[in-house]
Amino acid sequence: MGRLTKLERGVTGKIAVVTGAASGIGRATAQLFADEGMRVAVLDRDLEGVARVAEEIEQAGGSAAAWELDVQDAGRIQQVVREVVARFGGLDILVNNAGVSLLQPAGGDDYEAAWETTLAVNLTAHQRMIRAALPELTREGAGRIVNIASTEGLGATAFASPYTASKHGVIGLTRALAVELGSQGVTVNCVCPGPIHTGMTALIPDEAKTKFARRRVPLRRYGEPEEVAHGILSLVLPASSYINGAVLVVDGGLTIQNT
Ligand code: NAI
Repeated sequence: MGRLTKLERGVTGKIAVVTGAASGIGRATAQLFADEGMRVAVLDRDLEGVARVAEEIEQAGGSAAAWELDVQDAGRIQQVVREVVARFGGLDILVNNAGVSLLQPAGGDDYEAAWETTLAVNLTAHQRMIRAALPELTREGAGRIVNIASTEGLGATAFASPYTASKHGVIGLTRALAVELGSQGVTVNCVCPGPIHTGMTALIPDEAKTKFARRRVPLRRYGEPEEVAHGILSLVLPASSYINGAVLVVDGGLTIQNT
């Protein structure tokens, strides 16, 4: 391999799929990808929201198309991936971002339901999206997969065991597939966001957010979805060809602060 140049940092014309793209980190990622010249398929169970994101991207001069997809629907995943490939002519980059966070004590009446939904959306859907996209991702020996885990994939919080288990699983899936798919030139990495201002954290009162951030985050604040999107972008660049199986923590230093 020759010296990596500016060209290998460019992603113009690449075709990317982002799940959970109607809000938060997914939306910011789709917008950033489009700003960088990618053609972006934005997928979400919230069709109105994701259509709005595609429209925002097009209005800003980018290229995007929206699909309604509940990632719990295995058949629909196959269909949407087929439609994306037909529409854009391929698929180079997959960002598995759609996620839910349902708090439930281990002894809670709704624990089984919370577990099933959380594992289905946050973990099972990742492997289904990856397997549906795999023929395209391996075609040119340079596919990129980024799975969104969480700092809950590295540590734990009480009453969040389904979520924590799912995010530990995302890291395991990422590592296993990084090992398995590396020989085909596909890289598989994951990002662990810390506390980020998105729909998922919208119900936490501002005062509680500030208090938490002052006590626990070296940067003393919640992060913005765009700050996570930049981490994701860094993993899909052509020049990031030797980053495989990495766990990129984007948490303002939360997980490394002892006291
Ligand atoms: P968000 O709630 O703003 O966005 C999540 C998106 O996923 C929404 O548009 C929602 O409609 C979509 N979604 C949920 N279930 C779906 C399903 N079954 N099928 C299709 N789409 C579905 O939340 P945020 O924070 O942007 O979440 C993105 C990812 O980041 C998630 O995987 C989450 O676990 C992860 N994360 C978020 C953190 C935070 O502090 N906000 C911290 C660590 C990880």
